[in-house]
Amino acid sequence: MRVRDERGATELRILEAGCGRQWTLGTVEVEGVTPHITGIDADGRSLRMRIDERADLHEAIVGDLRTVELPEAAYDVVFCSWVLEHVSGAEQVLDRLFAALRPGGTLLLRIPDRDSVYGFLTRIAPFGLHVAYKRHVRGRVNAGRPGFGPFPTVYDRVVSYRGVLDYCARNEVEVLQTLSCNHHLRYFGRMSPIVDAGLRTVAAASLGRLTARHNNLAFVLRKS
Ligand SMILES: C[S@@+](CC[C@H](N)C(=O)[O-])C[C@H]1O[C@@H](n2cnc3c(N)ncnc32)[C@H](O)[C@@H]1O
Repeated sequence: MRVRDERGATELRILEAGCGRQWTLGTVEVEGVTPHITGIDADGRSLRMRIDERADLHEAIVGDLRTVELPEAAYDVVFCSWVLEHVSGAEQVLDRLFAALRPGGTLLLRIPDRDSVYGFLTRIAPFGLHVAYKRHVRGRVNAGRPGFGPFPTVYDRVVSYRGVLDYCARNEVEVLQTLSCNHHLRYFGRMSPIVDAGLRTVAAASLGRLTARHNNLAFVLRKS
């Protein structure tokens, strides 16, 4: 990721909200500025792994994004990746993240779409099935162990393509870019065309309420 600082500041202040145990954006290349990353997570064990194994945070805070104290207009970038679907009160968290961003600052948001077939199945499936999916389909041997996830999902209404766009319209947030993908299909290997066909059948049966064209979404949002 390349982040250009418009103000000529020497430090780019990044808040990673729900940082978990790893940074997932690849190498951050910042021209002429030094990134300063504050990581916040409600799970102390995930954060401990992040500190011990990655050692890439300048500040680490164990806290709930709904209540943790955040400085006003303090960050240039907020990165929130695969977190809001786990929060009851996701819109309240978005309000707080935007309040913590400086005017003109950027929120990089990644969510699964609750209105995708994938999101729908996640909502109705028992949590044990999430663990089995991560372990056996995604090959995460540590799935279910403390600090490793998966984490229980809530899927508030805002955790969707329409939900985020409506939120932005109501709050004068500029949508710079939206991206979607269906990467989860590749984990099914030779079965992926069959899984895809199954998901599309469910989408058709939903009469347009659910989509099988993607499961995950990414947004680049700018605070006005
Ligand atoms: C699926 S993990 C994603 C971690 C990381 N952002 C990534 O992209 O790999 C979800 C993370 O959100 C954290 N989380 C969930 N609800 C939270 C809340 N209310 N406040 C802070 N962190 C929360 C979990 O502890 C977990 O580390």
